[in-house]
Formats: sequence, C-alpha cells, structure tokens
Amino acid sequence: MAAVDILLGLQWGDEGKGKIVDFLAPKYDVVARFQGGPNAGHTLEFDGHKHVLHQIPSGIFHEGILNVIGNGVVLDPITFKKEIEELAPFNLDLKRHLVISNKAQMIIPTHRMLDKAYEIAKGDKKIGSTLRGIGPTYQDKAARKGLRIGDVNEPDFDDRYKQLRDFHLEILARYDFEADLEEEERLFFEAVEMIREFDILSTEYLINQALVEGKSVLAEGAQGSLLDVDFGSYPYVTSSNTIAAGACTGLGVAPNKIGEVYGIFKAYCTRVGSGPFPTELHDASGEELRKIGNEFGATTGRPRRCGWLDLPALRYTVMLNGVTQLFMMKADVLEDIDEIKIAHSYLKNNELTDELPLYLDNGEFSLSFDSFKGWGGTKATEFDQLPEGLHSYIKYIESKVSAPINLVSLGPDRTQTIMKGDIVAQ
Ligand code: IMP
Repeated sequence: MAAVDILLGLQWGDEGKGKIVDFLAPKYDVVARFQGGPNAGHTLEFDGHKHVLHQIPSGIFHEGILNVIGNGVVLDPITFKKEIEELAPFNLDLKRHLVISNKAQMIIPTHRMLDKAYEIAKGDKKIGSTLRGIGPTYQDKAARKGLRIGDVNEPDFDDRYKQLRDFHLEILARYDFEADLEEEERLFFEAVEMIREFDILSTEYLINQALVEGKSVLAEGAQGSLLDVDFGSYPYVTSSNTIAAGACTGLGVAPNKIGEVYGIFKAYCTRVGSGPFPTELHDASGEELRKIGNEFGATTGRPRRCGWLDLPALRYTVMLNGVTQLFMMKADVLEDIDEIKIAHSYLKNNELTDELPLYLDNGEFSLSFDSFKGWGGTKATEFDQLPEGLHSYIKYIESKVSAPINLVSLGPDRTQTIMKGDIVAQ
C-alpha cells in the first residue's frame, strides 16, 4: 500500500513550502492541506507568474491531481472565494480537482474580529498574529462550539451561524472594539453559497481509499515546527500542530501510513510576528539578508526578522518530525555574504547543551557560532556542480543534523531547484 509523504517547514514558517509542493506535485496523485488556514501564504512561481495560495493546496496548478482541504484546516469562506476568483485566468477545473473536508472548521467574520480584539488587548505582549481569525476558530473547535464546513448543507445552518456570531458579539462587547458586520456578513453568505458548489466530503475515507488503491499522497504543512502549539516558542505560536503528527489528525491517516517526511528549512532563519529568535540579527547583516532574500510576508507584507541558521533548533524539529530528507531553501541569498554564521550549540552556564530551554528568551543561555564564506554565484543544474563553498556548508549541516540534504533551492522559480538523485520513492 502506498504511503502519505509529508512536507513541512522546520523553522518559523516561510521556508518556501509552496515552491516545493508545486515542484513535487507531479509525482503525487493527491495533495492535501492538514492544518492552518489563511494565515499561510504559499508562493509559487512558474512561467513568469507569481501566485500566492492561502488555503488551496499547492498541487492545484497541475493536471490530474486531487487537492484536499483536510479536517485539520480552518477555512475562511470569504478568503476562499477570493482565491478561487483569482485562479479564474488559469482555466483550472477547480470543482473537479478540489474537495473540502466536511469536518474542516469554518472561520466566520467575528472570529477575525475577536483575533484583532485579543491582540489589541495584549498590548506589547501581542503574538503578532496574522489576524485571520485562526486562534479564535481553533479555540471554538476545542470548546466544541465551532461550525464545520459540512454544516453549510444542514437545514439550520443560518441559525447555527447566528448563535455562534451572537456568542462572539457578547465577548466583543467587553472589548473596546467597533464591529461593522453588515458588509462582512453579505460577503460571508455569498461565499458560503459558492462553497456549496464544491464536493464537501469525509475526506478521511477518500485519502485512505486512495492509499489502498496504491495512489501517492503528499500532505502539505503550513507555518513551521517552531510555531507548533505544543513544541513551538509558546505562547508566540500558531494554534495548530504544525509538526508531522498533525498530518495524522488533520487528515485522518494512521501513523503507520506515513512514508517520507520532507523537512524544509532556509539556509538562514526568518520569523514574522513577535517571539524569541535567538540567532536574530539586529544590525546591517540582518538588513542585508532581508533585502537580498526579499523577506517580506506573503500574507501580510510585514518585514520578516532575519538571522543565522540555528542548528540546535533544527536538530529539535528534525527529531520532532522524524525528518527523512532535508531540503535547503534560498541558498543563493548567502552566496555573496562575506561572513556567514551558523549557531551550532547553545551554552547554559558555559556548558554545552543540546536541549532547547522552555523559554528561548530567558537570558540563561548563549550561542556558539561557526563561520563560513559566501561561495559566489552559480548556474549549477546538478548537485555535483554546486560550488565547493556551498558543498562545505551542506556537509557541515549534515554532520550536525541526522538527515541528508537532498534538495537545494537557488531561486524562486521551479527551474532553480537542484536535487541529489530522485528524492521521491515511487
Ligand atoms: P496566527 O497563526 O495568525 O495566529 O499567528 C501566530 C503567529 O504565527 C504569528 O507570529 C504569525 O506571524 C505566525 N504565523 C502564522 N502563520 C504564518 C505563516 O504562514 N508563516 C509565518 N509565520 C506565520
């Protein structure tokens, strides 16, 4: 029987997952999102087009692939409708190639309002949320109050919606927050009408049946492992399990059905929003990385914080996810940097420790770095042709992290992707 391979980010999101899913998609029959929602922005570039997907799986541009929005996702109908409309010029047969889990939770307009109200109330302790309503929607899921996508076809959907909305409005009344709901609700019900035209299914059956039939499934993670609600830099995290285990609960597949786990990381580190970032650069080198790497959020446009690669954090997320192959992104950004650094260890009371502390910003530890020199530009199309300096950088990381780097990305386009052999087991 075939397996579900998982592709996920090992840092704080924005590792370049969209590009790689799009690149790998032709090898798969099904591509499925298992957590997160419109807080994600997966950027795909091909044939001179740049496209950002928020909720729709990144396999959508390939013929013959079924794209699944799984039960672990929180779906915003309004954003979904916009995304569908933006895909119109590509003439994709979306109703045939995209299905939605009847158990995916629904983001309603007041979830977004609550997200804003909570963030404002947190003052300088704010999470830096994307304000897309993610946290409040997962909160309602756990509180067993949420609406699910399958509810749109229930006869009392409007009443259930109103009940949840009124519950939210009562909470909002306690905050200093003006809610203009009329226009939002008009858009919401228009979008719900459009969602009804899609196949809304128990996608867990569909995915498990696909496996029985020998079809290959790629689970597409969103955000990154350091934003995981359990293992990330809590409370500065998102509200879902972004690690590999989330693919099991977010799609309804058993752990013994998981095959490869592709872990994506940038050759350096970035983070958007608040929260600790031990290797962050507050000087001109951070600015240089942001400029060369064009490090601005795909969803919110916010400048991303930049810093050096953090190996203890990478070892941690490789362990949590059971990563079988590493894919290193944006190596080209470092090629002309005079001194590149990598944090190889954390020191606590001057002693080396391999364990990440409970709070990454508690001031009780420092970092130890090694230095590398930029390797200059490359037009390599094969792994063996990569410059010697880049090979050393790769070998160094592999020697410290127990997984091979089998893919290196040297630019945003599909064509700027160098593989070491055939990474997908068929
Ligand atoms: P939320 O998921 O919108 O509540 O945001 C929580 C934290 O996760 C904030 O620091 C966001 O900036 C961050 N975050 C959420 N989604 C993404 C993403 O797709 N890429 C990078 N950071 C994200």
